[in-house]
Order: sequence, then C-alpha cells, then structure tokens
Amino acid sequence: MTDSIHTLYQRAISFAAERHGEQKIPDSAIPYVVHLSNVCMEILFAAQATDSFDLPLAVQVALLHDVLEDTQTQEDELTERFGRQVASGVKALTKNDALPKEERMSDSLRRIKQTPKEVWAVKLADRITNLQPPPARWTQAKIAQYRAEAQIIYNELKDGNAYLAERLKSKIKKYAINDAQ
Ligand code: NI
Repeated sequence: MTDSIHTLYQRAISFAAERHGEQKIPDSAIPYVVHLSNVCMEILFAAQATDSFDLPLAVQVALLHDVLEDTQTQEDELTERFGRQVASGVKALTKNDALPKEERMSDSLRRIKQTPKEVWAVKLADRITNLQPPPARWTQAKIAQYRAEAQIIYNELKDGNAYLAERLKSKIKKYAINDAQ
C-alpha cells in the first residue's frame, strides 16, 4: 500500500523539524521549518498547474531539501527512511563544501539537472521563497549578487516547471525594484 501525500508530508516535516532543531531562518526569529513549509506550499500549487507531476517525490524533497546541508543527517539515513529517489534529490540540492565557494552553485545546478523535474521544481521553489525583501544589513553588492544568482537558477532550471519558472521570473523583477529603492 502506498502512503498518502498527507502521511508523507507529516513524516517528512516532523523529521526535518526535529533535525533542524533550533535553527532559524537567517536574519529572523522564525523557526527554519517555516522555510521548508513555504517551499512545500509552492510545490503544492505547482503540482496543480503541472501535468504528470510526481507529488510524493516533490513534497518529500521540498521538506527535506536542506537537511543534508544544514544538519548532521547523512544521505544513508535519508535513503533508509525516505527511499533512494528522495535521498538523491536532496543530495543534488546540497552544495558540496569540498569545492571552492564560487563553484558550489554551478556544481549543484549541474547535478540537479541530472535528476527528475520535480527536484528542479524544488530548487525553483526554494529561490522563490528566499526572494524576500533583503535584510537591512545587506550591501547593494550582496543584493545584486543574490539577484544575479537567482537569474542563473532561472536560466538553468526554467524548463523544469513552467509555473514556478514564471513565479521566479516575476519575483526577480520585483526584487530588482526593491533593491533600487
Ligand atoms: Ni532552502
């Protein structure tokens, strides 16, 4: 018997919430799990707008997408608990910190492009969620760099999900207006 989306959601968000523990969304007092749930919300809307979308895969990868990068959790444990496909999706979304910093994003994007479109969708949803008004302490250069990075993500992954690509495009446009103020 396969588990319902509700069950998969609850299992993944509980695991992620436990592992991320006291972690907060950067520059805020908001528990990190809110970020994960926002990414998953984007995925749920995208699923409604997308034909033949593997929702169980996308929901689990969305909720777990930072658990290898930000916690002590290992890929083997994810494979055991959530299956190989979910674990390798999360792995592709995890930056390799053995590489020089400036190569990490392009390396991750290259690996994402070898995974199912649902994993591309999670990366798009992640950046959509992260394109909030920048923290006050960010310099113009940092803001411009973050926007440029978002544009690279859009360029590389836009074919992964039309609905999310469109959302990211308009978020990038608004972000530019925001930082010009
Ligand atoms: Ni994230």
